[in-house]
Parts: sequence; C-alpha cells; structure tokens
Amino acid sequence: MRFKNKTAIVSGASSGIGRATAMRLAEEGASVVLVDINAEALTDAMPDSGDHLTIVCDVSDEQAVESCVAQVMEKYGRIDILCNNAGIVCTHMPITEIDSNDWQRVLGVNLFGVGHFIKHVGRVMMAQESGSIVNTASVAGIRSGAGGNIYSASKAGVINLTQTTACDLGEYGIRVNAVCPGLVETGMTKPIFDYARDKGKESKLGSRCELRRYGRPEEVAAAICFLASNDASYITGQALPVDGGNTASLNLPGMKV
Ligand SMILES: NC(=O)c1ccc[n+]([C@@H]2O[C@H](COP(=O)([O-])OP(=O)(O)OC[C@H]3O[C@@H](n4cnc5c(N)ncnc54)[C@H](O)[C@@H]3O)[C@@H](O)[C@H]2O)c1
Repeated sequence: MRFKNKTAIVSGASSGIGRATAMRLAEEGASVVLVDINAEALTDAMPDSGDHLTIVCDVSDEQAVESCVAQVMEKYGRIDILCNNAGIVCTHMPITEIDSNDWQRVLGVNLFGVGHFIKHVGRVMMAQESGSIVNTASVAGIRSGAGGNIYSASKAGVINLTQTTACDLGEYGIRVNAVCPGLVETGMTKPIFDYARDKGKESKLGSRCELRRYGRPEEVAAAICFLASNDASYITGQALPVDGGNTASLNLPGMKV
C-alpha cells in the first residue's frame, strides 16, 4: 500500500501501459484519476475498487489539461503523482517525405502534452512542496531503430524534458523521472503483433533484446510505480530503460553465438 492517501493522475489510462499503471496505483491504495481522449475505453478501464475519477481530455490541448487539473483539485485538493503516459505513433516516413502536420500531431501529444501537464500539475506540487512525476518515454528516444523519425524525436524530447524539469522542480521536493519501454504488447503495438502472428513469426517479437522476449504492460507499470513511490526518494532526472536489456547492447548482427 505504497500509495495510501495519495492522489495520482495517469494519462492514456484507457489502454496498455497507462491502464496497467492505473490498476497498480489503485491496488496500492491511491485515488486514481484516469485521463484519456477515448471516452468509451475510459469507462471500461475503471478499477473495480477504490476511489477514482475519469476525465476525458486531449493532452495536446493546454486548456483541456488546465481544466482537468482544476477538476482533480476540486475533488481531491492535492496531486501527489503524475504519470504522463498518453502517446501516439506515426507511420515511419523517410525524413525527406515527412509532412509538417505529422510533426505537429505527434509532438502535440507525445511532447507538448507532457509539458502541459507538468506546467499545471507542477504549480500544484510546488505549492505542496512535494510530488513525483513519471513520464513514459521510449527506447526510441535513446537509439534509432525502434520508431520513425518523428516518434523518436518526440521521445528524446520527453527524456530531455524529464532532466530539465527535474532541475527546475527539485528544490520544491518534486522528483521527475521517465521510463523507456522496449517492445510491449499494447493497443499501440497491436498491428505489429497481429502481423507477426499472422505470418507465424511470433517468436521473433522481442527476440533481439537480451531477455529474448517482449514485455508486458504490468512490467512497465511496476517500474513507473517504483519511480513514483518513496522507494525512489533520492532518484530524479533519470530515464530508466524497461526493455529486457535492449539498450544495453549494440546487438550487432553476427557478433552473437
Ligand atoms: N507499447 C510499446 O511497445 C511502447 C514502447 C515504448 C513506449 N511506449 C509508450 O507508452 C505509452 C503508452 O502507450 P501504450 O503502448 O500503452 O499504447 P496504447 O495505445 O495502448 O495506450 C495509449 C493511450 O493513450 C491515449 N491517447 C492517445 N492520444 C491521446 C491524447 N491526445 N490525449 C489523451 N490520451 C491519448 C489512447 O487513447 C490510449 O488509451 C505511450 O507514450 C507510448 O509511446 C509504448
């Protein structure tokens, strides 16, 4: 019960990693605010027990985020944990073919959305002089090869924003960290999994990482909850890969027996 008497916001809570995180926070005693753009899925994602609130919100819209934070404050009066997890992918286009609308759309959700929430929740946490923020970045923000140009740049931005905001907010007792998941089976990666299963190549999924398998949303949620909790009380400004060892290796073809 690490999160008893704590209020936590999770964005992108309808599905995948966000949903698993909301469930784990609720299991460990938090009052959880589930935020997502998908209203229907949000209703289905509600934990069975505990105190929670669902808010439909597009994280790329700053006014919507401001209003979401105001609703949370009206109901709970404090915010202890913020998990900036909502994200979208983009078709992998060569850099010479990218449309500027795609830059706007993906950065709007994956990067600006994180910035909007940190701005408005950060003000609350500064007044409280406490709080923990965990952003969901990606291994794609560390190395190329795990997402297209725009997605990878958006996630590299999240890692950097984690460092700069940790420096801004540290003196107020606020910690800011990130997780960098590798391949995890969720709504976002469903097309990859469907394709591989269809072709009888499921065993290839995740096979290039050191643990030779893909990850489960609950495994990323566990890392997010660790960073959000007092167990990580002296950790801030860090981006933790949760990737089965993928980023630990250059994984050069032909170098492994
Ligand atoms: N699945 C993976 O392999 C993987 C790997 C690395 C990083 N990630 C990151 O993990 C996070 C969670 O993704 P997931 O894999 O669970 O995918 P998912 O598609 O299952 O969940 C993403 C959620 O974000 C919501 N969302 C999308 N746009 C939104 C917006 N504008 N406002 C509010 N909510 C919005 C979606 O409705 C969905 O519920 C994302 O940031 C993603 O980039 C995923």
